[in-house]
Amino acid sequence: LKLGVMASGNGSNLEAIAQAISRGDLHAQIQVVVYNNPKAGVAERAARLGLPTVLLNHRQYPSREALDKDIVETLRVHGADWVIMAGWMRCVTSVLIDAFPQRVLNIHPSLLPSFPGLHAVEQALAAGVKVAGCTVHQVELAVDSGPIIMQAVVPVQPGDTLVMLQARVQQQEHRIYPAAIALAALEGKGRD
Ligand code: GRF
Repeated sequence: LKLGVMASGNGSNLEAIAQAISRGDLHAQIQVVVYNNPKAGVAERAARLGLPTVLLNHRQYPSREALDKDIVETLRVHGADWVIMAGWMRCVTSVLIDAFPQRVLNIHPSLLPSFPGLHAVEQALAAGVKVAGCTVHQVELAVDSGPIIMQAVVPVQPGDTLVMLQARVQQQEHRIYPAAIALAALEGKGRD
């Protein structure tokens, strides 16, 4: 699998995927890391991991479609055939989704379809749920929707703070994202 990773933030999921690859748990390569925020920690992390990065700053584009067009081109030039959104904080358009049919994946820190959108762990805590979790899914146009590939459950403990719960959800993200990529690829093969 040739992965193109899209990230806007800290990049801990990128690193977890890179580690799964170096351990031999995921048979893949990261061809390129595309990021949109010049200050994102993911740039430094990717450099440390020896991964090529491309900054495409959304502020320099007139529309979401224009940004996505450049993303698609960048991913193609680097030979990516799977698109892994790992904390990508922009809405994507059909320009990206249609360029890689059923091969754009996202991770979201809730048990979808509960709590889509921003601040999902906070939303879950505020709702008083007893189990939180995370979801890897295929990306469709509506935010945080699309067929679910894998989920992990994280029980909420009495006295949990946002920081504590978030940390446990992230641990599970790091565990399931590499596994979900492998599973999606396997299921994709079945479809061919
Ligand atoms: C993760 O919690 C993911 O679920 C959400 O953004 C966060 C990215 O974290 N979509 P990181 O940048 O991979 O550390």
